[in-house]
Amino acid sequence: MTHDNSFPADFLWGAATSAYQVEGSPLADGAGASIWHRFSHTPGLVANGENGDVACDHYHRYEADIALMRELGLNAYRFSVSWSRIFPEGKGHINEKGLDFYRRLVDSLRAAGILPLITLYHWDLPAALDDRGGWLNRNIARWFADYASVMFRTLDDRQPMWATLNEPWVVTDGGYLHGPLAPGHRNWFETPIAAHNLLRAHGAAVEAYRAVGKGRIGIVVNLEPKYPASDSKEDRDALVRADAYMNRQYLDPIFLGSYPKELPPLFGEAWPPLPDIDFDLIRQKIDYLGINYYKRGITKNNPNVMIERAERVNNPRAVYTETDWEVFPQGLTEILVWVSDRYGKLPLYITENGAAFYDPPTADGTVDDPLRVDYLRQHLRAAREAIRNGVDLRGYCVWSLLDNFEWALGYSKRFGIIHVDFETQKRTLKASAKFYKEVIRTRGGDL
Ligand code: BGC
Repeated sequence: MTHDNSFPADFLWGAATSAYQVEGSPLADGAGASIWHRFSHTPGLVANGENGDVACDHYHRYEADIALMRELGLNAYRFSVSWSRIFPEGKGHINEKGLDFYRRLVDSLRAAGILPLITLYHWDLPAALDDRGGWLNRNIARWFADYASVMFRTLDDRQPMWATLNEPWVVTDGGYLHGPLAPGHRNWFETPIAAHNLLRAHGAAVEAYRAVGKGRIGIVVNLEPKYPASDSKEDRDALVRADAYMNRQYLDPIFLGSYPKELPPLFGEAWPPLPDIDFDLIRQKIDYLGINYYKRGITKNNPNVMIERAERVNNPRAVYTETDWEVFPQGLTEILVWVSDRYGKLPLYITENGAAFYDPPTADGTVDDPLRVDYLRQHLRAAREAIRNGVDLRGYCVWSLLDNFEWALGYSKRFGIIHVDFETQKRTLKASAKFYKEVIRTRGGDL
């Protein structure tokens, strides 16, 4: 049946996860520790002392999870590879058993008719590389390209879609500037160095892919339209700074070949010397852009806030999720249109979108999550609106397939459309999963 309002016939309907958040067994079969293993095992850094040792046990239950994906009608699954399963010491020795896990996963997805969207880096750096300076060491571009090449040689014949990095801005802002995320540094001077090396590593992996790969490769960024807290010049200037730091810091070098002009003065004496040649590496053509969208940012001038000199304020009239994020669906349309206008019309995918809400237990064991259903409905409509506005949007992944390890918040916040009982590992489709299934079946025609 066709629907007037429906999404394109070849639209990708996916769900996303990441290795450390769902797999569990982080040291199994010869894997090395990642910075998240180390971080979550350091007392006091993760809520309730939780860690990813078991998580959703997806490492063992991936077949059953793929059966659930089929039940929902997904035609894409976005997941990430744990670098330290492949290179336990970060580089050098390759762990075949680590590769085997991802071979099995990708083969099972393919057999189920589900396109694998593979992210090479979703925050779980091998701890052994962190010991060598991690993202602060310029050699990391080569280490990452070597690891990426092994993955390309192993899995590209199964024709997945590749992404180099997930949310490099969060890696630096959370991992190097403010410290709530691994490796937990709080260092203004390190931040632009880590950012630049992430971009160089991205470029080096794209370059490596062109040598051996036949399919598509891109990067995933998180974007937020910025709004001023008031009409004052101070707040409008704060908006420009926050936008440069969060939205343009990574995209301008990739698409335009230079950093936003606002950044060097914001970093001041911490801004490093940057060899011109780096931008040739960074500015390579990518085949698509993945966008993670959760919320907008309302910014208020505040000279005491590092780098942006802007603080985030809340909108008293809005609905907020359990992570205190404003529900702002029109921001999704806006950011998709902005990307197409600023960087040119390239294929876009929403690689993450979703919300944490408390899902109250019911007597009959079902999980009713009307707030999440409403969030998804509104954001899917906003995605459709972007297509109507001429954006080349090719797919949507809900975050997340499963309730999982929400980084520093541990298991306290649930983003899944499938409920996970972490005691028994029982999966239960929430109302939002059933809603999404129906959206997929009707290609969004009834939204
Ligand atoms: C990340 C996910 C995370 C989600 C919700 C995104 O920033 O890519 O790993 O769980 O947001 O916080």
